[in-house]
Amino acid sequence: MTVVMGYSSPMLDKFLISMQNARMSHAQEARISGNVCFVRAYAKINLTLDILGRRADGFHELATVMQTVDLYDTLCLTATSDDRVTLICTTPELSNDENLAARAAQLVRQHFALTQGIGIELYKRIPMAAGLGGGSSDAAAVLLALQQWWQLPLSSTDLLNMAVTLGSDVPFFLTGGLALCEGRGERVTTLAPYWPSLMRWLLLLKPAISVSTAAVFRSLPVGDYTDGTHSRAIRSALQARNTPRLEDLYNGLERSVLETYPEVARARDDLLKAGAPFVRLSGSGPTLFAPFSELACARMVQAQMQAQGYEVHLSRAIHPGAGNVCVY
Ligand code: C5P
Repeated sequence: MTVVMGYSSPMLDKFLISMQNARMSHAQEARISGNVCFVRAYAKINLTLDILGRRADGFHELATVMQTVDLYDTLCLTATSDDRVTLICTTPELSNDENLAARAAQLVRQHFALTQGIGIELYKRIPMAAGLGGGSSDAAAVLLALQQWWQLPLSSTDLLNMAVTLGSDVPFFLTGGLALCEGRGERVTTLAPYWPSLMRWLLLLKPAISVSTAAVFRSLPVGDYTDGTHSRAIRSALQARNTPRLEDLYNGLERSVLETYPEVARARDDLLKAGAPFVRLSGSGPTLFAPFSELACARMVQAQMQAQGYEVHLSRAIHPGAGNVCVY
């Protein structure tokens, strides 16, 4: 490794590091080649989103079951000879220092007082500000990639603290897969991988508008709060390897988003008319997901929606790092 560390390297306990990496075995694995490190950052969907109440800090108390899907951004990290973090993105408006991926790299540098420069190239495939967690996933991928590439002695608590600083969804992406997230989103309980055959294929439709998560949460009426019933029900069903009841795939932000953004309501109607059996909002939207048991049906609906000018991705649930074979 030719990276010049700008701090006096602590005595690294190789055993502890390998234990730590073993614990993270189902998180993204960075592909490292000399001076360059590639990592994938997967998108997520929310199977449920229960908003329990508003907290004193302005955030909302949540219970949400999330799953990573195989729509991903690719990040390429290089060690640079200056002492800066630079980020270039295929989506020009994301090429700036405020990008969560750049901020994640800065946090790691600050934590270890590193002066080593880092260049980040970000190939964006996950639509931005879409409810698919793309920016959060990019940030988590940078934390994990730097940890693995530079063998940094970051404990799970260090990683979690950095992740929470970057955003409520970032802790989930440190492990990915299927998880129940509570609190602001930072209390992550990883669930055993299980995915019902009814949802084998997923269409992700992104209406051509942006939705501000903060605005959606701010204007949410108290009547849309729930007590976490849906998330508990989905968790129990999936843990028992049962097919969940569709009415438990509930998103507490959906009613408000459909009412405020007619483009999202229209896209939902169009999906249903084209033959999607079920449609749900992911996160604060505007992306809608529709599950299918058969690829042919998913492709047929995708083609119809694309003919109407919609951006639609065909995807499936994925458990990152599980290798090429996936049981669901
Ligand atoms: O944490 P993050 O920056 O991703 O959150 C974006 C916005 O979403 C916050 O500024 C807040 O308005 C809202 N939010 C919330 N409660 C949460 C997560 C996010 O109110 N648990």
